[in-house]
Amino acid sequence: MQIKEFLISDIEAVKKFTDAQIGVGYYSFDELKENQRKSVTTSGEISSFVLLDPTTQEVKGLRLAFPPGNWAGGKGAKLRPDLWPFQIHEAAYFQSLFLSAELQGQNWGPKLSQKSIEIFKKLGAKGIITHSWKESPNNSSFRYLQKIGFHTIIEHPLYWIDVDYVCPRDGKPCRCTSIEMFLRFEKESA
Ligand SMILES: CC(C)(COP(=O)(O)OP(=O)(O)OC[C@H]1O[C@@H](n2cnc3c(N)ncnc32)[C@H](O)[C@@H]1OP(=O)(O)O)[C@@H](O)C(=O)NCCC(=O)NCCS
Repeated sequence: MQIKEFLISDIEAVKKFTDAQIGVGYYSFDELKENQRKSVTTSGEISSFVLLDPTTQEVKGLRLAFPPGNWAGGKGAKLRPDLWPFQIHEAAYFQSLFLSAELQGQNWGPKLSQKSIEIFKKLGAKGIITHSWKESPNNSSFRYLQKIGFHTIIEHPLYWIDVDYVCPRDGKPCRCTSIEMFLRFEKESA
């Protein structure tokens, strides 16, 4: 498998992947374009990544991640910055992370996330906020986040209820719960 930056030229293949893996309509073409734009840092790097099958060029995974200053919230409306250990302008955001079923449980999620984390640390971000999917199969969403050092802030029931898509668990509307979580970057010792 090959990890590469998420570029505008990947959007068609990424849309096919998100419709199949997250749910039909979760991301529109326009929203994916906007998310690609939001992934470009002030120094011109890209903080979102795709996992590609090098033989077929098929997308097998997606890590959407936005640097500080390029995001104001997640897919749901709920956000509790009053409970974070840093301010929103100091925080990056992990949006979606999805892998094809056959590649789950093999550490590709943490590897993709690490690529984004390296970029955020270089930018001087203080940490990352995310919304974990509580009903994720095998609790893999919460487990990979905990494994890389994220802590729970608060749960948001019915977080995705207003997102117009077909949830793989509930159909329409989605009744899943999100767990707002943070990762604080350690200060580098002198
Ligand atoms: C969540 C996800 C991105 C994590 O990436 P990953 O590469 O699978 O992460 P890891 O390999 O570190 O696995 C994390 C844990 O989940 C378990 N796990 C992951 N996928 C699994 C599966 N299909 N079946 C059983 N266990 C699984 C792993 O064994 C591991 O357990 P551990 O904590 O005991 O070590 C990936 O599993 C996935 O795409 N899941 C479905 C979609 C999803 O929930 N996305 C998050 C939405 S916010």
